[in-house]
Amino acid sequence: MSRELRDRAERTAHGDRPLRVLALETSCDETSAAVVEGRGDAVALRSLVILSQDVHRLFGGVVPELASRAHLTSVVPVVERALADAGLALGDLDAVAVTHAPGLVGALLVGVSYGKALAFGAGVPLVGVHHMEGHLFATALEHADATPPFTALLVSGGHTLLLDVAAWGAYRLLGATRDDAAGEAFDKVAKLLGLPYPGGRHVEALAREAASTGDAAAAAAAARHRFARPMLRANQTPDDPDYYDVSFSGLKTAVLHAVRRAEAAGALDDGERAAIARGFQDALVETLVEKTFRAARQHGRTRVVLGGGVACNGALVAAMRRRLEPRGAAVFAPTPRLATDNAAMIARAGLFRLERGDVADLALNAYASRPIPGLAR
Ligand code: KG4
Ligand code: ZN
Repeated sequence: MSRELRDRAERTAHGDRPLRVLALETSCDETSAAVVEGRGDAVALRSLVILSQDVHRLFGGVVPELASRAHLTSVVPVVERALADAGLALGDLDAVAVTHAPGLVGALLVGVSYGKALAFGAGVPLVGVHHMEGHLFATALEHADATPPFTALLVSGGHTLLLDVAAWGAYRLLGATRDDAAGEAFDKVAKLLGLPYPGGRHVEALAREAASTGDAAAAAAAARHRFARPMLRANQTPDDPDYYDVSFSGLKTAVLHAVRRAEAAGALDDGERAAIARGFQDALVETLVEKTFRAARQHGRTRVVLGGGVACNGALVAAMRRRLEPRGAAVFAPTPRLATDNAAMIARAGLFRLERGDVADLALNAYASRPIPGLAR
């Protein structure tokens, strides 16, 4: 980076004028741009544009090459719209932030390349943001108290992470999935139940039917589909390697067997499908809630912050509140727009990195996988 840009980044980091950051997010199948403004934990969202790529529905999953192409055609208008909605021009910005890991490399590269061009054109610092650090910051845009120290549960299509957050930028990884991510498990179970992709919200809606019918037959069906809670035993201790870890592939297989059994018996009707969805969701939710409860208790945290697409799940959020709030911990979850992939969270994390002087140069690269900066095991 040039000396001039480095000096500018230094002055930006140490002034007291509110900072304006434009961010791009193109790690998967959402093309998104946003502008935030502020300093420290007083940061406001000025605009957010999210364009979801519908093409992948046809294939039942994200097709990387199609994602890159769709980002290419939409990134320019999406950024222009985010600037217009914020009432700002390129020259009003203090930095451009962009997701550079983890994700689909071709998709990430579209955002990284365009982000570099914008930063270069505006003569402002470029900030590379880790997608999962973005998810950590999302809730803080909506809840002033969703700030460290807290326990974080990040549950998305590609990741399931349980973190202790002592301060922004100081993360301890407590647990993760040993196989499928929580969102991935929802999507695979959706497929088994004949629901569209991405399936999380469809499984949740189906499970709600089993919950609301309330008659004796529904209760009996639900009882038949009580799946084992993966990696959750009462006699685990914090020294056990699986005290905080989760695993959902066995649960997914149990669902597969339940579906096949019902099919073979000619009994896979709507009520049975709903009961299976309910049984799956209950097992996954109880596992995540218990592991999060353990993490908060063990580290004396009185705040729990949820993030990632699965944080849209009302049953998860409600169960988390029921378990933690009576024990003195507040639970914060983002609204769906900020829970699923979006550039607002990238802008918020980017502003934090900018204030810390963590700026990139034009050699910034994209990575399919990379640890969150500031992460300790
Ligand atoms: O964070 P996200 O938008 O993208 C990734 O970074 O992966 O998360 C997407 C995931 C998908 O697996 C989707 O099925 C899941 O979040 N999801 C849900 C719900 N809404 C979205 N899972 C369960 N219940 C929901 N209501
Ligand atoms: Zn995500």
